[in-house]
Amino acid sequence: METVVSGIRSTGNLHLGNYFGAIRNFIKMQHEHRCYFFIADMHALTTHPKADHFKESVRNVLVEYLAAGIDPDVSTIYIQSDVPQIPELYLLMNMYAYVGELERCTSFKDKIRKHSDNVNAGLLTYPVLMAADIIIHKATKVPVGKDQEQHLEMARNFVNRFNHLYEKEVFPEPFAFNFGNELVKVPGLDGSGKMGKSEGEGNAVFLADTPEVLRKKVMRAVTDGGPTEPNQEKPESIRNLFQLMRLVSTQDTIQHFEDTWNNCTIRYGDMKKQLAEDMILFTDPIRERIKEIGSNETYLNKVIQEGGEKARESAAKTLKEVRSIIGFTNY
Ligand code: TYM
Repeated sequence: METVVSGIRSTGNLHLGNYFGAIRNFIKMQHEHRCYFFIADMHALTTHPKADHFKESVRNVLVEYLAAGIDPDVSTIYIQSDVPQIPELYLLMNMYAYVGELERCTSFKDKIRKHSDNVNAGLLTYPVLMAADIIIHKATKVPVGKDQEQHLEMARNFVNRFNHLYEKEVFPEPFAFNFGNELVKVPGLDGSGKMGKSEGEGNAVFLADTPEVLRKKVMRAVTDGGPTEPNQEKPESIRNLFQLMRLVSTQDTIQHFEDTWNNCTIRYGDMKKQLAEDMILFTDPIRERIKEIGSNETYLNKVIQEGGEKARESAAKTLKEVRSIIGFTNY
């Protein structure tokens, strides 16, 4: 049994990218490992310093975690800001992270482009907080999508630097994990890039989207003029549609549209209709549970209280050891 940690920022509702990149693995791993899944509300502050619905977003992620199938009886579910040991470890780990390597981080460069009006220090040290999240429980496996790979590499650098400096294997190296498979990158509906909440209206399909909204979004997905020669290579926007289909549709359906692409009879309207219906079929039970769990305030409070306690207990053990190794010995 290994220790697993992963988190999702509370910047909005969960989408299919979050589900297939991360949550699907959380669900599979929770019965085999010691799992800690959290809501990264402090990370959310780096880009949403004064979000109107901050509390509501945190609560939505909690409800959607549970609705998707994370079981609080077997995994520890908590809110990042409920565990004060994390920011303390983050502060300490900042001493082992170099500004140069943080500035070279792809997500930092991306974020300062998108949020040029708010290039705060939290954005720069984002990977350090993420490393603290992981190593506070001494995790080795981190189920995440492809976009988080570099953050994990940075976490290993910080860990190795710390262990080397104090000549002790305090932290194990954490690795991004997807059951031995390539990490996942779920494309968005806008024809390029990845599905994401901040990539613009209509790019992401949310677990909570109603069938009507979902159909509209999928029908508006970017396509091209259609194939002109048999067995032609697909452009990115069409590759993306097929990739989305592979997540939710049956093998027969996928094969049917592959064949129609190859013999140039494909009708994108039909393909999108089918894709939307398969996505609805997939999200239906989750949406039902969102309604059910979302109205049970007592249950949600209990989950978050108990999760917080368990997370703090594990975190306090690690922090005590780290403080003593560094030489803070007063208590
Ligand atoms: P966040 O909130 O952007 O996304 C949460 C998880 O969903 C995955 N994901 C995707 N996977 C595949 N395709 C996509 N289009 C897609 N969009 C999102 C992400 O890879 C991620 O696994 N920094 C993290 C949150 C975090 C964290 C951590 C994760 C904070 N501390 C410690 C693991 C361990 C983030 O911003 O994820």
